[in-house]
Amino acid sequence: MALSENTRLRYLHAMGITVWQPRAAQQSPAQEEIPIAPPTTAISWDTLRNQVTQCEQCTLCTTRTQTVFGEGNPHAKWFFIGEAPGQDEDLQGRPFVGEAGKLLTEMLRAMQLTREEVFIANILKCRPPRNRDPHEEEIHACRAYLFAQIALVNPQMIVAVGRISAQTLLNTQQTIGKLRGQVHSFQEKPLIAIYHPAYLLRAPIEKRKAWQDLQFALQAFDQLKSNLQ
Ligand code: URA
Repeated sequence: MALSENTRLRYLHAMGITVWQPRAAQQSPAQEEIPIAPPTTAISWDTLRNQVTQCEQCTLCTTRTQTVFGEGNPHAKWFFIGEAPGQDEDLQGRPFVGEAGKLLTEMLRAMQLTREEVFIANILKCRPPRNRDPHEEEIHACRAYLFAQIALVNPQMIVAVGRISAQTLLNTQQTIGKLRGQVHSFQEKPLIAIYHPAYLLRAPIEKRKAWQDLQFALQAFDQLKSNLQ
């Protein structure tokens, strides 16, 4: 798919590539809408990984131990997207490896999925200090990496893990309680929002709803497959 000039510039900007433009044409990508068109898949995994490793697009680069690119099957049908690395992830350079990660792995198992067959990444590739919520400018600076990952994997189903992920991808302020239990769409792909495992660890009473969400996701996936047949 051909990229519009604006979209191309936004992705290049987010990846730290400066492109000369006449002064009149200059715009801050941070103030623009989330692009609708997916980025080009011309970028390779290696290039993207290097861009992330070296990224200095926001101040989180000064406090991170390392970036957390994401991991899993590069051709996964399911793409799980969390919020941002926590302390364990920052130390190990892998997504969802702390206590919340263990619960996410269990949730995957309940869906008869393994970490190896899905792809797992975050909205932010660097840990916010003390695990605070991501700032708007950090999300703007980082999101093109995620969009490029989604374009490369080309999953059949996206799962937004937690409020921040769902609100960011769906460009809404609605609560996760409202967003769960529906099939949304992100860049023409079905997206389902589920409770964050860190929240479930704090509020185990919600685990029943979380189980319903997983079943809902599986049903939506099956429905999608049968529609395609
Ligand atoms: N929480 C997230 O949202 N992502 C991680 O990688 C770890 C914890």
